Amino acid sequence: MHGINQLVLIRCDVSCFFFLNPTIMALSKHVNPDKLIQDSHDKKSHYHGLTKANARQVEHTYGARYNTSPIPKYSISHKGINAEAAYQLIHDELSLDGSPVLNLASFVHTWMPPQADKLFQENISKNLIDTDEYPATQALHTRCISILADLWHAPSAKGAIGTATTGSSEAIQLGGLAMKKIWQEKRKAAGKSIHEPGPNIVMGANAQVALEKFARYFEVECRLVPVSVESHYRLDPKKAMDFVDENTIGVFIILGSTYTGHYEPVKEMSDLLDQHEAKTGHFVPIHVDAASGGFIAPFATPKLEWDFKLPRVVSINASGHKFGLSYVGVGWVIWRDKAHLPKDLIFELHYLGSVEYSFSLNFSRPAAPIIAQYFNLIHLGFEGYRAVALDDMKNARLLSRALEASKYYTVLSDIHRKVGSAMESMKDAVGMDDEDIESYTPGLPVVSFRFSDLYKEKYPEVQQHWIQTLLRAKGWIVPNYELPPDLQQVEILRVVVRESMTEVLIDQLVADIIEITEGLAHQGSSTHTLTILGQAQHKRNRAEQTEGSLKEGSGSKSSGTYAKPC
Ligand SMILES: Cc1ncc(COP(=O)(O)O)c(C=O)c1O
Repeated sequence: MHGINQLVLIRCDVSCFFFLNPTIMALSKHVNPDKLIQDSHDKKSHYHGLTKANARQVEHTYGARYNTSPIPKYSISHKGINAEAAYQLIHDELSLDGSPVLNLASFVHTWMPPQADKLFQENISKNLIDTDEYPATQALHTRCISILADLWHAPSAKGAIGTATTGSSEAIQLGGLAMKKIWQEKRKAAGKSIHEPGPNIVMGANAQVALEKFARYFEVECRLVPVSVESHYRLDPKKAMDFVDENTIGVFIILGSTYTGHYEPVKEMSDLLDQHEAKTGHFVPIHVDAASGGFIAPFATPKLEWDFKLPRVVSINASGHKFGLSYVGVGWVIWRDKAHLPKDLIFELHYLGSVEYSFSLNFSRPAAPIIAQYFNLIHLGFEGYRAVALDDMKNARLLSRALEASKYYTVLSDIHRKVGSAMESMKDAVGMDDEDIESYTPGLPVVSFRFSDLYKEKYPEVQQHWIQTLLRAKGWIVPNYELPPDLQQVEILRVVVRESMTEVLIDQLVADIIEITEGLAHQGSSTHTLTILGQAQHKRNRAEQTEGSLKEGSGSKSSGTYAKPC
């Protein structure tokens, strides 16, 4: 028996001890909830004849209904549970996820019409690589490539070459690899070393992490061009030229920036590289990372020069699962002609009596997202895609103007500003009914914003990241993060306006942002209390993260390129 003043030391995990005493209880700084649950189980458990729940098992109520055993959380169970129980268990656990429609952090499309859902379901088990077995699926894949090559003005849709990928990331690796191989071939032909000095690639510091990954995984020096307010938070072509030399395999140009939606000036970069070639004789190609813009620019602003119309653009990638409006799992990479995809990257597969060509990083991949992409191309056509893009842009302008008109926020994205009148946003905001997309600065339907200087000055104690937390409490997922080097001291909130972000939802989002922003300005308001509560949200899943996943510090840092979910 423990006396009244006796301290009982309970070991709850390697890093945590707390002292139990009915009168004196010193709270530890950290309690391991996983361990807490393990220790709190009934010690003698004969749960309807089920095996005793041990520390690593999860008991669930459906066990009683379906007569199934508890299952271990982190190791495979000896005996499985029936499908109904497994479904219900997983279904319930996944309700902790955010709602995809309200996930405004993501560029990835989340809704398709029921007919597309049906096609997806019907083809869910098909593997795109099995071309011999699924020749009709392969035909749709090839047709998508021709359609995109044509849309992006390849000199000849027949002469262009490309492939589906799992997303833009894989497509970017392939585009980069092709440029690296071509550089190596040229160096070897000239009798020069390909190692001393090695190859380099130039991109804005606002690049998405997939671009930096290419450089690191495939041993190409990554030359990040710092961004500035003057360069609109994206690549400055003139500055980029300082980073280009005879070992530059190419320049990655982004349409548009993951941070703010700004399109990078492909034409200007191309012109500068033309001048460079005229002076030095070095041909430096451009790969356009049009992850999002590849399905916005051709429809919303078809006059914009960014694609294969510019001879220096040798390859383009886009995500079918972003503004291509398909479900997640499809990207595209297209080369303007076969000359820009070195033979070395193409594998000839002799398979079941036929010959197939493979030039992708993955072998097997689901065919259903590609079929869904083809569905969109024939269902929407040019007019349909344009209508969706214009609607997204209109809703993004609405959100931008409302935020700026509140005076609490400054919008960094420029798509609501008239061309050539970047300083006239407030004038634009009042009573403007001009729907002509051509009069606005081209870009993605993305709204990046920050506290206005006025708000910061008046309420210096209010932290911008609280807005993210408090919006989350209302269901909205709106990320708050730092801009890339050299603007990392600036934090932005960002909303991606996808098709599902209708005017009704914009309306509600604006109301919620204003309510929260004003609430935070008033000390002692309930919003202040909620802020503290909301910060705890970040900690969810902490227990899960300790099992099997990498701990902070296990990897090397990116150079500040965009590494948040998209
Ligand atoms: C500019 C850019 N490039 C590449 C990617 C990666 O695309 P994916 O998620 O399709 O691999 C993203 C994702 O948002 C992006 O915005």
